[in-house]
Amino acid sequence: MKLVLFTLCLCVFAVICLADNQPVLVFKKGINPREISAFKSWTVQQGMDYESLEDEQQKMEVFANNIRTIEEHNSKKEGTWKMEINKFSHLSFEEFSSLYLMLAQNCSATKGNHVISSKAAPPHKDWRDEGNFVTPVKNQKKCGSCWTFSTTGCMESATAIHVQGHPLYSLSEQQLVDCAQAYDDHGCEGGLPSHAFEYIRYNHGIMNESAYPYVAEDQKCKFQASKAVAFVKKVVNITQGAEGDIVDAVAFQNPVSIAFQVTPDFQGYKSGVYSNPTCGTKPDQVNHAVLVVGYGTDSATNMDYWLIKNSWGPDWGINGYFKMQKGVNMCGIATCASYPIVV
Ligand SMILES: *[C@@H]1O[C@H](CO)[C@@H](O)[C@H](O)[C@H]1NC(C)=O
Ligand SMILES: *[C@@H]1O[C@H](CO)[C@@H](O)[C@H](O)[C@H]1NC(C)=O
Ligand SMILES: *[C@@H]1O[C@H](CO)[C@@H](O)[C@H](O)[C@H]1NC(C)=O
Repeated sequence: MKLVLFTLCLCVFAVICLADNQPVLVFKKGINPREISAFKSWTVQQGMDYESLEDEQQKMEVFANNIRTIEEHNSKKEGTWKMEINKFSHLSFEEFSSLYLMLAQNCSATKGNHVISSKAAPPHKDWRDEGNFVTPVKNQKKCGSCWTFSTTGCMESATAIHVQGHPLYSLSEQQLVDCAQAYDDHGCEGGLPSHAFEYIRYNHGIMNESAYPYVAEDQKCKFQASKAVAFVKKVVNITQGAEGDIVDAVAFQNPVSIAFQVTPDFQGYKSGVYSNPTCGTKPDQVNHAVLVVGYGTDSATNMDYWLIKNSWGPDWGINGYFKMQKGVNMCGIATCASYPIVV
């Protein structure tokens, strides 16, 4: 029996063997016991269910690859940021992109309309420390709706900061997913915060989260004007590449919506100041929108960074946030920034 099993496993390229009538996984050559046991405990920890043994096998192989990438990255002495195994570690970058990123949106704003203040910006800013101005990190789930979270995050903060007597409301991403198509936004297929602000402006408002809850898929528009709780008077684009203008806006106005290009290593970001000399910076390369809520200088590396709220849940990165190198248009972070003037 043992010999039969052995031969079978050797010649069948990695699917199912029957050992004592129990189906078991057979692992591709090269996956070591440590990786197998890491995958098994990760599976339990994440509460993963696999469709089939083939499915589990495929994810195990991707997972083992990801472990190696992470370990290699973390062993580099000159690195300014760390990677970790996380809830996306069973996904190849292709799978991850199609589930969580949007198609590039070509966001070019060559001439912005941000009015620079005449003041010198402080060296450090974090809107979370200034009052109740930033909602908890949300989770876009399997839908390329990052742009709606960037938009609501910016609207929520700007409204709480500037509108007298307006508390911090969590606002509806689903309304933007379902209703902003006329402004060149495409629900789970992607969109742009600047276009979503335009939609909110001309649509006369956005409802709050509880009145129009998030379901992570495209639906029919269910906007009710009587339930709108936040409004836009004007949309401000920051001139493409003018990173200093983003500093000014974050320092003296409110958090700012930005987009950038996510490349494979970012999927496993853990902590530190993210920097990647190979990612793209052009308007038609950015594939993820997020919210800058502050900036500062990292004491360990002496690197200037942006403090950014992501929408992949609080269990990703630094409690749902990440830091990105500031001052070099890293991954196109200064390529399509915008924010609303709220009323
Ligand atoms: C992006 O937009 C610019 C300006 O409108 C246009 O010239 C360019 O062809 C577009 N690129 C893509 C990839 O759509
Ligand atoms: C802002 O930029 C977008 C492109 O990203 C453009 O479609 C929009 O018209 C611009 N809005 C303003 C107010 O300049
Ligand atoms: C949503 O708005 C309603 C009133 O329109 C309010 O009662 C409720 O507390 C709000 N919920 C959130 C989460 O802001």
